[in-house]
Amino acid sequence: MAEPSPKKAKTETVETNSIFQRHLVCCVLDYGSQYTQLIARRVRENGVLSVLLPGDASMERIKSVHPRTIVLSGGPNSVHVEGAPRVPEGFFEYCQENDIPVLGICYGMQLIVHQLGGEVKTAEAGGEYGRMPMTVVCDSTLFSTESQDSQLVWMSHGDEAVKLPEGFSVVARSEQGAIVAIENPGRRIFGLQYHPEVMHSERGAETIRHFLFDVAKMTGDWKMEDVLEEEMEKIRQQVGPTDHVICALSGGVDSTVAATLVHRVLGDRLHCVFVDNGLLRYKEGERVMDTFNQHLHLPVTKVDDAERMLNRLKGLTDPEAKRKAIGAEFIDVFSDYAHKLEKELGHKPRFLVQGTLYPDVIESCPPPGKGQKHSHTIKSHHNVGGLPEDLQFELIEPLRELFKDEVRALGRLLGVPEQFIARHPFPGPGLAVRIIGDVTEGDRLDVLREVDEVYINAIREWGLYDKIWQAFAVFLPVRSVGVQGDQRTHSHVVALRAVTSSDGMTADWYPFQPDFLRYVSTKICNTVRSVNRVVYDVTSKPPGTIEWE
Ligand code: XMP
Repeated sequence: MAEPSPKKAKTETVETNSIFQRHLVCCVLDYGSQYTQLIARRVRENGVLSVLLPGDASMERIKSVHPRTIVLSGGPNSVHVEGAPRVPEGFFEYCQENDIPVLGICYGMQLIVHQLGGEVKTAEAGGEYGRMPMTVVCDSTLFSTESQDSQLVWMSHGDEAVKLPEGFSVVARSEQGAIVAIENPGRRIFGLQYHPEVMHSERGAETIRHFLFDVAKMTGDWKMEDVLEEEMEKIRQQVGPTDHVICALSGGVDSTVAATLVHRVLGDRLHCVFVDNGLLRYKEGERVMDTFNQHLHLPVTKVDDAERMLNRLKGLTDPEAKRKAIGAEFIDVFSDYAHKLEKELGHKPRFLVQGTLYPDVIESCPPPGKGQKHSHTIKSHHNVGGLPEDLQFELIEPLRELFKDEVRALGRLLGVPEQFIARHPFPGPGLAVRIIGDVTEGDRLDVLREVDEVYINAIREWGLYDKIWQAFAVFLPVRSVGVQGDQRTHSHVVALRAVTSSDGMTADWYPFQPDFLRYVSTKICNTVRSVNRVVYDVTSKPPGTIEWE
């Protein structure tokens, strides 16, 4: 989730002083497929710790995570394209010497075939895309006894293996006759042309489980309880007995869970600040402060910065200019707070807690020809509020090895209330990106807050909140003609947005029933008198984004 974190992490290598050294690790090499993170999550769902490394990682880097098994992901490349990523020199030898099973998925399988002396060609029929049947053609190691027949799998490939390297055999074929599963059990190298990680592959989950436990002999010892203990221990080691720590809370799940965890270890040596920037939802400031105080007993200072922020935003209409102004104001407020704290304590707090998540630090393999070494998944506009270097804090990032759903599980363990954990993401620049144009003009903020509150309450009343990734209202800077109580009106238009998503990177609009839309639009126009028109946004991402600005 996006939060107004003061600064995204500088990426040190993920392996140092890490839980990756204390568990059996399944290393996933990322060749750029849209499903790579899904592979890593599926592995973790089985209680096996997965580590994602870029597909162009060196042998040294791969060795440093002490993998007990390795998955080569899919990717958009063809093995024949110049510069297409490959496994590093000595990879297969290293795996064989250390008895490390390898599973190649889609592009990963093609790499295995190509690099070990087989042949990969552009599929004559133009490739296979979508859900299709495949048939297991022999007794195999790769498939469990229950899966040794036909099943529907999710394909997405233009190239295919036509000749296998020595020692490999065909385990399954598609309806069109293409090779879709291969193995060399002696060398413990396996390949799947389809994507077992996506739900549409009907036995995909079972195949992954079978590979992890029966083929690779992993143990499912990755538990949130251990993660909690380990992260607490790391903080004990990192922070000296008189050091103080500072944290900016956004009211979102990530920073809250991170702060709660640090608070467990350091108690009142943790100092949190929550900035009410005037761009929050209806009663949001009070609600989150109540959670911090009553439920989590976090020491939080609330800074009321609404007036200064809105002054800074006056007259700004360009979305980037608005974001920059908000970021700059945040830095000023945070610096003031840090300096004030320094005066009170008599010395500078040494550490800064950040709710950086694993997807923020993952590097993935870029397509060849772009001249990039690797691509970060961090979006620049989410660095709003980045702190200047000269504030010089050391970072504590207890969530940097976790996915969002794991952070939620950790939050539950820490006693963060369920209602809080299940909250929809809220952007750092708040309602400013949901009012098109000048945020400060007229009563735009108040109108939007009222509409948004009616909308979210309706979603809750109808039991839909947990089915939706994010829902919100948007204020449009236009007026429309209407008729209310026999009077012609010329009032505000608001748009409603609700999307489903698993990570915010892609999204689809939520298909509300007409009854709900009728109910909510009537309720908004009746409750918020200055609104006479409600529209529903039916744009997916891509081509749209989730927010309107
Ligand atoms: P978009 O609009 O890029 O949003 O599809 C994806 C997710 O990111 C949130 N978002 C932001 N979060 N600062 C943030 O901290 C921002 O400037 C920002 N813009 C969008 C958005 O709410 C969604 O969850």
